[in-house]
Amino acid sequence: MSLLAVEGLTVAFPGNIAVREASFAIAPGETLALVGESGCGKSVTAFSVMRLLAPNARVTAGRILFDGIDLLAMTPAAMREIRGKQISLIQQEPMTSLNPVLSIGAQIAEVIRRHERVTRKAARARVVELLELVRIPDAARRIDDYPHNLSGGMRQRVMIAMAVACGPKLLIADEPTTALDVTTQSQVLDLLDDLRRRLGMAVLLITHDLGVVAQWADRICVMYAGRIVEQAAIGAFFTRPMHPYSRGLLGARVDVGADEHYSLNRLSEIPGSVGSAAGEAGCAFAPRCPLVVPGCRLAVPPLIAQGERAVACPVVI
Ligand SMILES: Nc1ncnc2c1ncn2[C@@H]1O[C@H](COP(=O)(O)OP(=O)(O)O)[C@@H](O)[C@H]1O
Ligand SMILES: [Mg+2]
Repeated sequence: MSLLAVEGLTVAFPGNIAVREASFAIAPGETLALVGESGCGKSVTAFSVMRLLAPNARVTAGRILFDGIDLLAMTPAAMREIRGKQISLIQQEPMTSLNPVLSIGAQIAEVIRRHERVTRKAARARVVELLELVRIPDAARRIDDYPHNLSGGMRQRVMIAMAVACGPKLLIADEPTTALDVTTQSQVLDLLDDLRRRLGMAVLLITHDLGVVAQWADRICVMYAGRIVEQAAIGAFFTRPMHPYSRGLLGARVDVGADEHYSLNRLSEIPGSVGSAAGEAGCAFAPRCPLVVPGCRLAVPPLIAQGERAVACPVVI
């Protein structure tokens, strides 16, 4: 059974539908990448799973099954038990998520004590272990540091320590390294992957960086204007991306394989933006699509299974 199964998720803001009938599943221990340009609905999807959507957001359809139970039907109290213990979220900018007036040790201990009955002393010992687990050097001393004492990379490690403190089954990492330099970025992603293996977590890795996806994910979901337009195993996706938008994304990478057809089809050369088809009938990518045919503008193409993968474009099938 899937650890997480999102089924037909639709999330609306006043005057704007951010996520449209999104369905995907994550197996235990798996890393699924959720990819797409800024504004396509990745974070709204993540916040839906966490039940942390803004007050003006409304889930108008769908289910989010975690271990077979619909998170959307849970009471706020039951959801608080799950959040941080079974499912954790790390976000892009650690400085805004950390409390500047509390030591990092106190903040990590707070997460542990929220979910488990442990003494202060035992919690502190666990915090040192966690800091070591996320490879913060000299953990026993750093535990009393404040967030501003740490570099961006070290702060993100603290966020990861908080996220994995209670051994979650699912970690949602929403652009976890976007604010970091390239070297620190791969150290943090290596760490996440190591923790995934050691703790047996599944990871929903949200990114717009396909290089990151190629290196760290097992499967990929490509989102465009709120819809999932392609799903595939990593090998199949990079060997043969199917949706024209996926091909465009891959073309935007510098070092993509030998197939010149894909490399020529650069996303940066496709005019328009994610929002350009909002509210129109048909495929949202049609206005930017090099393969568009008249039928594309008539109805939204459904995601059609092709063996292990799925693509929402009848033109390429
Ligand atoms: N609090 C909000 N109020 C209104 N619209 C929002 C809000 N949060 C997100 N949106 C809209 O939802 C869409 C998807 O946003 P988001 O999921 O943050 O995109 P991304 O893929 O970059 O993470 C965007 O059009 C965005 O403007
Ligand atoms: Mg986002």
